[in-house]
Amino acid sequence: MAEVTLDLRGQPKTEAYAELKTHALAILEGVDDDICAMATMSCLLHNAFGHLWTGFYRVVTPGKLLRVGPYQGTLGCLEITFGKGVCGTSAAKGETVVVPDVHAFPGHITCDGRSASEIVVPVYGRNRELLAVLDIDSEHKNTFDDVDRAALEDLVSWFQHRAS
Ligand code: SME
Repeated sequence: MAEVTLDLRGQPKTEAYAELKTHALAILEGVDDDICAMATMSCLLHNAFGHLWTGFYRVVTPGKLLRVGPYQGTLGCLEITFGKGVCGTSAAKGETVVVPDVHAFPGHITCDGRSASEIVVPVYGRNRELLAVLDIDSEHKNTFDDVDRAALEDLVSWFQHRAS
């Protein structure tokens, strides 16, 4: 495999995500392994956009506990209870949570003091079971919006709709 890791900073977000998705789908063709896909998506997203932290928290006890999975960035906390922090809130609600300012989010879990805004997207499996959440943290406020929400939800729908 002679794939390159794309740096998409400087491109309009919509175009950047479209390119990233095409790239991700090509790399993941024929893959049937969640951890492999999570590692690949973390790497692609992290290098494409250069955010502070990019990775997955996996559901290890449905409705109760998330545990860190493949990620890129500084050390993440290992476990998050459903309902706690931004990740636990997204997991409990089964909805994407966009936080423009983490300091204004009650109960935000600080793994890296530089984190200023974040987005957390639920990841569903084939039977619409919650597999994980995708967490991206930025060192700038107001980084994420509805474009990120739609594109990231679309990207992680790979886990629900993959061909293999
Ligand atoms: N910010 C997250 C915690 C996880 S880390 O920052 C990697 C939260 O409040 O859910």
